[in-house]
Amino acid sequence: MSEKFQVVVIGGGPGGYVCAIRLAQLGLKTACIESRGSLGGTCLNVGCIPSKSLLKLSEEFHNVKGLANKGIEIGDVKLNLDKMMKNKNKAVTVLTKGVEFLLKKNKVTYLKGHGSLKSKNEILIKDDQNKETVIQTEKIIIATGSVPVSFPGVEIDEKIIVSSTGALKLDKVPKKMIVIGGGYIGLEMGSVWSRLGATVEVVEFLDHITPGMDKEISSEFMKILKKQGMKFNMQCKVETIKKNKSGAVVSIVDKDGNKNNLECDVVLISIGRKPNTEGLNLEAVSLDIDERNRIRTDKNFKTNVENIFAIGDVITGPMLAHKAEDEGIAVAENLVGQSGHVNYDTIPGVIYTSPEVASIGKTEEQLKELNQDYKVGKFSFMANSRAKAIDDTEGFVKILAHKKTDKVLGAHIIGPHAGELIAEIGIAMEFGASAEDIARTCHAHPTFSEAVKEAALSVDKRAIHS
Ligand code: FAD
Ligand code: NAI
Repeated sequence: MSEKFQVVVIGGGPGGYVCAIRLAQLGLKTACIESRGSLGGTCLNVGCIPSKSLLKLSEEFHNVKGLANKGIEIGDVKLNLDKMMKNKNKAVTVLTKGVEFLLKKNKVTYLKGHGSLKSKNEILIKDDQNKETVIQTEKIIIATGSVPVSFPGVEIDEKIIVSSTGALKLDKVPKKMIVIGGGYIGLEMGSVWSRLGATVEVVEFLDHITPGMDKEISSEFMKILKKQGMKFNMQCKVETIKKNKSGAVVSIVDKDGNKNNLECDVVLISIGRKPNTEGLNLEAVSLDIDERNRIRTDKNFKTNVENIFAIGDVITGPMLAHKAEDEGIAVAENLVGQSGHVNYDTIPGVIYTSPEVASIGKTEEQLKELNQDYKVGKFSFMANSRAKAIDDTEGFVKILAHKKTDKVLGAHIIGPHAGELIAEIGIAMEFGASAEDIARTCHAHPTFSEAVKEAALSVDKRAIHS
């Protein structure tokens, strides 16, 4: 007789493992199946965590070289890439083992192997020795995440032609790196290798980077990255990517038809990610997917099959770890009759470059499209005393508020610690706060958060320091 669970979660990423823990907390007999041999999904193994480790270390390497100008002379600064990578790997191991501990602590059964649907109540698990087991379950949550998109016919070898996974473990600093796609991954990983000494050139299909972001922020962001030495080929299409003896050649064509061959030693393809449904055998239960291969769900994350649910990157919405986590918690709570809910209007997005870029709620472009009257408050870090004190003054805070009610509709920040500052706006938006509510809240001095307060004051044209 095979083992029987109340709920089985397929996928142990931030969506899946968080969901499994919450289900177990709520008293359900839960299992979590993961095929990669380590928990934490894309995020902990080959995404958020290793990239943030390299972003921080490469930033330190870059900054320390500039300290002599500020009166701190420490001699020759040398890069030991091998040690840097080991440091990153250590962070990944500690965190993924930590998740394994959390599953055990919460009495979630961790099943190693690849899961596929045998029927709506049975899952077939194949382990790395090809041993097959079938388990029974009342309910199933699919949290199988996403995988990188590539160009048809281009083989990603993770050495010369790399996805983010390869870009996180290069064994030497490339002389020249071509980054295809000016989005989250391209700009974060491009920044890492640029700081470590590579010449980085971005090829972007559109006329702006980071599509979907407030245009004013995106233009400022590109200006700053250019100043840091990153080059941009905008409105360019990739025709071919061919490997040669020393690396690869990326052939591009711009909007006027001008062709260019970009020689490099590494090409990073970062043109988006796609839902991962491969090998799940969705056909066994006729599970519905949409035109982009995402599993179709209703607002309670239920698929067209009564007892099967899906969350995270494999369904619609931003492909972000915190979105997947919140969906995991919401679906678990719904399953026991609670009112799990995700507010998609207040999911922050952060790009961990230097400076950081963070955004929440509506952009100015979206408000225009919605015919929504709005007010704008802006405050530059140039006028923030903490930023001035430490000479970190690039960027600004922008707050968008309803013209009549003053309710905060969105906020966009480029500047120091933007990723932390955006949390204040998230809370404000969740509580339906007005810009004035933020402006009248006492903010410690001298902090970067005073720039948020001043931007809120500026919504009514009464900022003090500008
Ligand atoms: P995943 O994390 O992809 O987890 C799915 C898991 O399911 C995987 O471990 C996979 O092995 C497993 N699986 C798949 N199919 C099966 C199967 N059939 N059987 C068993 N197991 C299976 N997001 C942020 O919010 N902040 C960041 O800073 C950030 N940085 C990123 C950096 C990079 C380089 C990348 C690539 C992504 C980054 N992301 C970031 C995005 C984030 O990683 C994803 O949004 C998040 O991991 C999605 O969580 P998930 O649980 O839906 O899926
Ligand atoms: P992305 O969607 O962020 O950016 C892709 C970029 O490639 C876009 O600018 C797009 O216009 C461009 N593009 C698409 N096709 C192209 C082509 N043929 N030629 C040239 N340019 C092309 O995708 P990315 O960077 O691959 O990241 C995937 C997802 O992973 C992100 O959308 C995000 O959800 C997540 N992520 C989040 C991070 C964070 O939260 N800090 C960090 C890294 C990834």
